Amino acid sequence: MKVLVTGGAGYIGSTTAAELLRRGHEVVVLDSLVRGHRAAVPTGAAFVHGDIADRSVLVPILAEARFDALVHFAAFAYVGESMSEPAMYLDNNVARSLVLFREALSHGVRRIVFSSSCTVYGLPARLPLDESHPKAALSPYGASKIMCEQALRWFADATPDLSAVALRYFNAAGATEERGEDHDPETHLIPLAIDAAMGHSEPLVIFGDDYDTKDGTCLRDYVHILDLAEAHALSVEAGDHEGFHAYNVGAGRAYSVREVLAEIEAVSGRPVPFKVGPRREGDAPALFAGTELIRDRLGWRAKFSSLARIVSDAVRWHPQSSTASVDRGE
Ligand SMILES: NC(=O)c1ccc[n+]([C@@H]2O[C@H](COP(=O)([O-])OP(=O)(O)OC[C@H]3O[C@@H](n4cnc5c(N)ncnc54)[C@H](O)[C@@H]3O)[C@@H](O)[C@H]2O)c1
Repeated sequence: MKVLVTGGAGYIGSTTAAELLRRGHEVVVLDSLVRGHRAAVPTGAAFVHGDIADRSVLVPILAEARFDALVHFAAFAYVGESMSEPAMYLDNNVARSLVLFREALSHGVRRIVFSSSCTVYGLPARLPLDESHPKAALSPYGASKIMCEQALRWFADATPDLSAVALRYFNAAGATEERGEDHDPETHLIPLAIDAAMGHSEPLVIFGDDYDTKDGTCLRDYVHILDLAEAHALSVEAGDHEGFHAYNVGAGRAYSVREVLAEIEAVSGRPVPFKVGPRREGDAPALFAGTELIRDRLGWRAKFSSLARIVSDAVRWHPQSSTASVDRGE
């Protein structure tokens, strides 16, 4: 199939582009590089430098390539930043996505896979979180994901041959031989803790150690980017899949912050310096996914998402990353 991957210079998008190529698909990456790295785009993919809402870039590539599928990663992805810059988030993640969806649909694209997030659920009323859990946005970022999902639901209702899939990722983590996590600024626990262990940054701050959990720190569900990439490929390839579908993509189990730090120490052989700070508003004590739906409908299950595999891949990639050394700071 011909697949347009927006945000394919980013962490999850570049890994998914590589997986789609490995499975024999033709891939065009569209990315403005506002947050990504040109060097992360796999060599087998065509690269178009541009914004998802720039019709002067978008329309010619849609008209020429006649894509079978759109996999839409491009977005801003920091909850905290979205609280101080809500307009920037609603513009980039919602308004620009609507331009992209509308042009893709009018150019005959009938498979859309969208990067959603477990943040759409807000604070959990029950665990594991299943897809029928009520949605509640606690931030403009979360709201942007809910709005795009809602738009896709309406588009699917109005377009009977459209398959629109929202993948609600839990915490993306890990690395492959070629690609790993290199956000700027970085806000995710594993790369921050590895940085602290390597002496590249100040001690890690643990946001609260007085939660009602086994060791007082928050529990999160970490899913390896190889598993995420496969979930996208299966969503693109699914037959008889018309309509709107939302699937959780997580490992289905949770690890505490302290367990993650202990694993990093074991793998790297270095202690992770840390200090304990106050709780962050809106942080749930525990979050983990129910994944029966994606297993039953798409045959997906996490294969690479043990904490040991995630941490060993992330530590191996971290210091000698080629994309990090080429592009860090751009
Ligand atoms: N990383 C996670 O744990 C996580 C969890 C849930 C959901 N998500 C979602 O997954 C997607 C990818 O996340 P990531 O961690 O790979 O982020 P990332 O920042 O590494 O990648 C996003 C990419 O999109 C590009 N981009 C942003 N706005 C653009 C625009 N208007 N036009 C063109 N390109 C644009 C950036 O340059 C970047 O390359 C995002 O939609 C994010 O909200 C991520």
